[in-house]
Amino acid sequence: VLKKVLGGFFGLGVVGVLGFVGFVQMSYDRTFDGPMPDIKASDDPAVIERGKYMVFAAAHCGTCHGDVDQHEKAIAGEELPLSGGFVIDIPPGKFTAPNITPDEETGIGSFTDGEIARALRYGVGRDGRALFPFMPFQHISDDDLTAIISYLRAQEPVKREHPRREFSFIGKAVAALVLEPEAPSREVHESITPEPTAEYGRHLAYDVANCYGCHTDRDLMSGEFIGEPFGGGLKFPSEADPTVMLVTPNLTKHATGMLSRYDEDGFIARLRAGTTIANGTKNGLPVPGTPMPWGAIGKMTDDDLRAIYLFLESLDPIDKDNGATQQPVE
Ligand code: HEC
Ligand code: HEC
Repeated sequence: VLKKVLGGFFGLGVVGVLGFVGFVQMSYDRTFDGPMPDIKASDDPAVIERGKYMVFAAAHCGTCHGDVDQHEKAIAGEELPLSGGFVIDIPPGKFTAPNITPDEETGIGSFTDGEIARALRYGVGRDGRALFPFMPFQHISDDDLTAIISYLRAQEPVKREHPRREFSFIGKAVAALVLEPEAPSREVHESITPEPTAEYGRHLAYDVANCYGCHTDRDLMSGEFIGEPFGGGLKFPSEADPTVMLVTPNLTKHATGMLSRYDEDGFIARLRAGTTIANGTKNGLPVPGTPMPWGAIGKMTDDDLRAIYLFLESLDPIDKDNGATQQPVE
């Protein structure tokens, strides 16, 4: 009798699992609509120049989308063709940064301005898929989004085909059950004037340079923010060295935080000095020593870095000692 009961349970389990597998296989490839922002590229050289600054410095698009054959230079923040190919290989799957040069067939040449804007602001890809959340740029202002797209359009097209994302089974389950396009969670401004103030620094740290997304503790499964903003403690397994865990430091002025170590000029000098962690390779592909886009951030203007300092300085000190930024994997 016991055997029969257990067998029954087991049978149900298998059916349940198979059902789940079937459900995931059938439903991971969901599509979504998203508003098409009314953004139009411009050919004004000043707008294109602003876009270039966003792409290679403040919003660091180039560190992922820069030509993978010159990946060391991309990590260093150099201005490269945005022909893509860098692979982010994580448990949910392999995500290749696409070619975002204006080539008609292999790049964004056939995308409309609205489609590019929707990808960045609403996380909906051109084909309606929810983009995996690598690009938290929902709150970039209309003017800066216009500038970015204007720069993308102004580049030389490069013909270069890459594989699209390949989900693992875990990734498919995530895509079937939880992955939804990420829309703005608060007001997006039409225009925000860059100035060396804490207020503008807040915009850079949250919405453009993404200091917030990495220097705040998060649940590693859901991505949900669980720590106080800028208190650090988020862990990244090193891509370049499997024995090392990278931990983001607290960026506030508490004795346990980075700002207690630097005055304004010292902080700017530290960001300009760049990373001390060597890049490496994983499965034969180049990978950065740290996920922090040091090269691009180090190319931000003095005024922008000053604004970030003033913003971090204005925060209440957070008492949170996250230990060394490089720790042995437990
Ligand atoms: C951390 C790496 C990273 C950064 C930084 C990054 N991207 Fe991406 N981008 C990706 C990956 C990976 C994909 C593919 C995502 C997917 O298929 O789910 C992608 C997809 C795209 C797409 C294609 C959307 C579609 O419809 O298929 C565009 C356009 C794009 N990125 C533009 C940008 C721009 C502009 C920036 C800077 C403002 C930027 N990206 C910054 C990694 C990055
Ligand atoms: C993609 C994730 C990511 C982003 C974005 C990011 N950081 Fe980091 N940051 C890290 C990690 C991981 C470390 C620890 C490893 C290292 O030093 O690179 C770090 C280290 C640091 C350090 C300490 C360096 C030292 O001397 O030990 C400072 C300061 C810092 N980040 C500031 C910032 C600021 C300011 C921004 C936004 C302009 C920012 N970070 C954006 C991940 C990130």
